[in-house]
This record gives sequence, C-alpha cells and structure tokens, in this order.
Amino acid sequence: MDSTRLVCVAAKKENMEHMYTSNQCQTWTRELHRILCMQGGDHDGSYAKNSEASASALALCKPMLAGAISSMKLFQGEPSIRIADLGCATGHNTLSTMELVVRSLRQRYEEDSDHMPEFEAFFSDLPSNDFNSLFRSLASFTDTMKRPYYAAGVPGSFYQRLFSKGKLHMVVSLSALHWLSQIPDAVLDKQSPSWNKGRAWIDGAKKEVVEAYAKQSEEDLTAFLQCRKEEIVEGGMLFILMAGRPDSQQPENQLSDPDTRAKHPFTTSMDEAWEDLLNEGLIDEETRDMFNIPAYMRSTEEIKKAFDRCTGFEIQQLEFFRISEHSKEKQEEWIRDPVSYGRAKANLVRATLKPIVEAHLGQILPEELFKRFEKRVAEDLAMLHKTCFYGVIVVCAIRK
Ligand SMILES: C[S@@+](CC[C@H](N)C(=O)[O-])C[C@H]1O[C@@H](n2cnc3c(N)ncnc32)[C@H](O)[C@@H]1O
Repeated sequence: MDSTRLVCVAAKKENMEHMYTSNQCQTWTRELHRILCMQGGDHDGSYAKNSEASASALALCKPMLAGAISSMKLFQGEPSIRIADLGCATGHNTLSTMELVVRSLRQRYEEDSDHMPEFEAFFSDLPSNDFNSLFRSLASFTDTMKRPYYAAGVPGSFYQRLFSKGKLHMVVSLSALHWLSQIPDAVLDKQSPSWNKGRAWIDGAKKEVVEAYAKQSEEDLTAFLQCRKEEIVEGGMLFILMAGRPDSQQPENQLSDPDTRAKHPFTTSMDEAWEDLLNEGLIDEETRDMFNIPAYMRSTEEIKKAFDRCTGFEIQQLEFFRISEHSKEKQEEWIRDPVSYGRAKANLVRATLKPIVEAHLGQILPEELFKRFEKRVAEDLAMLHKTCFYGVIVVCAIRK
C-alpha cells in the first residue's frame, strides 16, 4: 500500500472513530478561547515564520502609534507605567511593538517630566498561545538595561477582564480583534437559514450567515471595549489595528475587491480543499459544512458605533488602510516558482488555522487538508498574477 493510501486509510479510520457530531463541533466552536492560537514554535508552519502580513500591518501603524504617544498625557509621579499587548502571539512583532511603545514613552518622560517611571509590559493572549517561545525570545535581552521594561505573561481572552480596575496606562492590540469569541450558534444549526453550506468563511455567503457573524462581532467588540474601559486609567490610551473592510462594502463583501476575494486564503482555495476531502470520501458533508473560520472584518462605521455604545473613550483616529499581500519582487519570484508559492500560502494557513482545524478534524486529516490547499494554490496560475490586498483599520482612543 503506498504512503498516501496509508494516510487516507488512517485518516478515515480516525475520522470514523471520532466522527464529529454536531454536538461535538458545537463544543469546540463555543470553546474557542481554549483552542484558538497561532501555531507556536519556530518551524516552517509556525506563526513566528509566517507573520509577514501582520509585520506589514505593524510597519504601517508604527508611525501612527509613535505619533499618538507623542501627544499622550503623561502620568506625573506615577512610579510605573503599565502597558499591555492583547493578542500578542509569539515572534518578533509583539517584541518590536513593545520596544517602540516603551522607547517612545521614555523619550516623552525624558523631555517633558522630571521623573522617569519604570515600565511594566504585559504580554497577553489566549492560554493556548505558545508563551514559552515568547518568553524564550524575551530572554535574548540579557538584562533590563537592554530590555527597558519588566515583562509578564497574562493568559486569557480579551473579551473578558484581564486586569484589575484602572491598572493600565496603555493598551495595544494588533492584528487580533478580527478573531471572534465564537462561531455564532445559528451558523452551526443545520435547520437554521444561517447554516453556512459549502463555505469555510463568510465572504460572499448568504445574508443570514453574514448577519449572524455581524451580530457576534458587535457583541464581541462591545465586550472588549467595556472590559478595557474598566482597566485603563483616565487619560490612558487604547491603540488597535484589526483586519477590516472599507465602509463602501457591505458585510457580505468582507474583502475589498474581486481579486482579493478570489485569492484570499480563507476563500476559493480553502473551499476547494474542503471539497477535495469530501469528494475523496475522507469527510462527510456535514463535517465540511460545520467548519467555519471565526473571523469578521468590521467597517469603521461598525467600530464607531461600538465606541458610541460603550462611552468612556474619545476616538482620536479611526481609519481604513489597504496593505498589499506581498511585495512586487516576491510576487515575481513566486510567478517563477508556483510550487513555493503554494507552500508559503499553506504554511500561512497552517500557522493561523491549524489549532481549530485539528479541533474539528482530529490529528491526521488537517495535514491532508493543508496539502490539498497547497496544491490548489500552486496550480491556479491565473490567480498567482492577481494582487491581493489586506484591509486594516487603525483606531486610537483615549480613556475619558
Ligand atoms: C494574527 S495574531 C497577531 C499577533 C501579534 N499581535 C502580531 O501583530 O503579530 C492574532 C493573535 O490574537 C490572538 N487572539 C485571538 N482571539 C483572542 C482572544 N479572544 N483573546 C486574546 N487573544 C486572542 C490569537 O491567539 C493570536 O495570537
């Protein structure tokens, strides 16, 4: 028996043994805070090696973040300034964000204050995040002279309280808030008009599916803001960058243009890969239809409404931006080598979705899904010539 066949037999066996009933799926989709995370470690499929899009988002917002800090109120006489990065993941981005925030604040205190506070940095993410990798990379700064802050990890969901009242002076959250707290129940109910048949995500889905996601997104953002309202001191800052869509697009158009809609890793190739598993008899239709990606791209209008409902914050900046999927040089390199393009995109999908795909399919089938995704991406040469953009929204607000 060849090795592919062996895997398929094992996968079928595993899937039969652990056949996911709707009840079991309901469990993981409601328990996202227990399983959602970016892939840990520093191997090819890890988030640390596949955070290029978040790094571009960070590069875009760094000048805005530094600018916002330059006009922020200083907390005179405060012995320590406390900063949290919510949804920090692992890797270079969170360290670079914290470095920028502390450096900018220190400069402000040097210039505008007669005292220099100490700085405390809280790296926060869901408990399944690979905090060990993060702490190991922190250790590369040998002492607090090189790393000018004290560091701590805070496990928990940012949709709940993470800190005591009035604890924080500054909160940043980058490329994280588009992840929802759960898949809406109605989307997992086969009898409901919100059942999301044949799609892993909501771009282009039925009105009822998108409405269920929009409602979940509204509840989640409101909960996030209510919690931060308690935790941030008056005059403190909340700086968020999240994936978003332009105001001109309705929620069913989560992505801003047709090429992006076709090429985004959550759309065409992802649905084809699930369809492949189905057609090869490795999963049944219900297992395919029960899988949904818990992400929602908000518009600036939706975000403004949530801030208005919450009160407690004054928005200083709220803007939509578009970031190219990758550089022109990279695109040309990949056009010459579509196989490596397929591999890169599959690694990106592994880095972001593997934990939830495993929760849905068990241990063996996820790799089969990612391989089919890789093949689909590498084979679609027309798509490779198209340019995909990520939409992001930057919000900066002061606690009133
Ligand atoms: C794409 S990563 C971004 C990481 C990092 N901020 C960056 O810019 O590279 C998104 C992170 O958000 C985290 N996340 C998603 N939902 C969360 C929640 N409810 N509470 C806390 N973190 C969450 C994920 O675990 C993941 O580590």
